Amino acid sequence: MKISGSTALVTGANRGLGRHLAAQLRDRGATVYAAARNPAAVDLPGVTPIALDLTDPASVAAAADAARGVSILINNAGSSTGTSLLTGDLNRVRLEMDTHFFGTLDVTRAFAPQLALHEQSAVLNILSVLAWVSFPTTGAYCAAKSAEWSLTNALRQELAPQGTRVSALHVGYMDTDMARAVTAAKSDPADIARLALDGIEAGDTEIIADEISKGVLAVLSGGAAALYPQVA
Ligand SMILES: NC(=O)c1ccc[n+]([C@@H]2O[C@H](COP(=O)([O-])OP(=O)(O)OC[C@H]3O[C@@H](n4cnc5c(N)ncnc54)[C@H](OP(=O)(O)O)[C@@H]3O)[C@@H](O)[C@H]2O)c1
Repeated sequence: MKISGSTALVTGANRGLGRHLAAQLRDRGATVYAAARNPAAVDLPGVTPIALDLTDPASVAAAADAARGVSILINNAGSSTGTSLLTGDLNRVRLEMDTHFFGTLDVTRAFAPQLALHEQSAVLNILSVLAWVSFPTTGAYCAAKSAEWSLTNALRQELAPQGTRVSALHVGYMDTDMARAVTAAKSDPADIARLALDGIEAGDTEIIADEISKGVLAVLSGGAAALYPQVA
C-alpha cells in the first residue's frame, strides 16, 4: 500500500498518537483528513480538519459523506476511563464499548464503500497490549480493546474480497494525555506512528510496536494460568 498520493483519514487526530499519525501521513505525501470531535482543535498545517464523534452515528455518517477518496482509514480515537467492571459506573463501562467497539465498527462500516473504490486500501485499528491482558482497575478499557481486537479479525476477512487490508497495532504505554498518570516507561508516540505507517506500507497484518506487547503475545499460548498466575 503506497501512502504517497493516497487519501487518509485519522480519527482523534487533534492530539496524542492521532496527531502524529496525521502529521506523518502528510509528510509521506498523503492527503489527510484529520478527524476530531472538535475540528477547530486540529492545529496541523496542511491537513483538512473534519468533524467526527465516534459515538454519534449521525456525525460518523456526515464525515463519510463529506470526505472524498479515502483509501486509508486509521481508527485511532479512544477513551480510557479507568473503570472497574465489578464496581465501576456502568455508564463509563458503556462509554468504553461505545467508543472502541461500536465507534470503530460504525466508522469502518461508513467508510467501507469508499475504500472499495480503490484497487488497494487499508484500515488500521489502534489496539493495545490490553486487548490481550486485563487488569481489574481498568477492566472496562481492556474488555473494549479485546472486543475491538475481535472486530478487527472479523472485518479483516470480510473486507479482504474488496481489496481492503485490515491491520492491528498493539502497543503498551505511550507518552500521551491518556497515560499522563502512568510513571512506568512509555513509548514516544512519534515512534509508534512511524512503525504504524511502515506497517501499512508493508501490508503487515499485525504491528507489534513494543517489547511489552511482544512479551504478552508470547505468553498468550500459555492460557490464563500463564497470564494470571496470581489467581491460577
Ligand atoms: N496512551 C497509551 O498509553 C495507549 C496505549 C495503548 C493504546 N492506546 C490507544 O491509542 C489510541 C490513541 O490514544 P492516545 O494515547 O493518543 O490518547 P489521547 O491523547 O487521550 O487522545 C485520544 C484521542 O481520541 C479522541 N476521542 C476520544 N473519544 C472520542 C470520540 N467519541 N469521538 C472522536 N474522538 C474521540 C480524543 O478527542 P478529544 O480531544 O475530543 O477528547 C483524542 O483526540 C487509542 O485508541 C488508545 O486506546 C493508547
